[in-house]
Amino acid sequence: MTKQKATHITWHASHVERADRENLLAQRGATVWLTGLSGSGKSTIAVAAERALIERGRLAYVLDGDNIRHGLNKNLGFSPEDRTENIRRIGEVAKLFTDAGVIVFSSFISPYRADRDNVRVLMGPGDFIEVYVDAPVETCESRDVKGLYKKARAGEIPEFTGISAPYEAPERPEIVLDTQRQSVEESVEQVVRYLEDKGYLNTPTGD
Ligand code: ADX
Repeated sequence: MTKQKATHITWHASHVERADRENLLAQRGATVWLTGLSGSGKSTIAVAAERALIERGRLAYVLDGDNIRHGLNKNLGFSPEDRTENIRRIGEVAKLFTDAGVIVFSSFISPYRADRDNVRVLMGPGDFIEVYVDAPVETCESRDVKGLYKKARAGEIPEFTGISAPYEAPERPEIVLDTQRQSVEESVEQVVRYLEDKGYLNTPTGD
């Protein structure tokens, strides 16, 4: 748990509540947290799901590992400590977006179960939807979209997830996507159907 460093700080309340924003958007804010190996399909599914919701007139936004590491988290690498800090910050950002009423698709390897569980605890009940983007490492390696597995095997990238760094699969994710067997469209449909069935895509009823 990160310790509070600053003192003499007071929380300042807004005159607008989350429910006001959700009513405006006719949706419930949430974070759809995609976790899985590099090359499992997280980012592809995230951007396709974002597009699908926008086309339905719903507000969605993607937070992506490679992108966030160019800005907010440019001072972090891939040691276990840095990955934990990466996920902690993203969790806080996702919480803000969720409070803004947005449906976030976050796409980070997030290899440690404890880090993901911390984000779940940080967010309110129903705000964190864990999605395991399931693909065996052999499949991700054979896809090798970014050529990183080859480099990792050659010893050019240390601490590479699935090769020389661990990945802890979720134990009770809300959704499992089997990207070896299903298409991107089928995965997106599965996620959108979940959001629909659970009432995220309608004006919240207040209960
Ligand atoms: S996480 O482990 O901290 O959650 P994150 O999702 O932000 O990782 O970033 C992963 C992306 O960084 C990968 O998709 C890959 O493009 C790149 N990358 C570079 N080095 C590594 C590494 N050692 N392990 C995993 N991914 C890496």
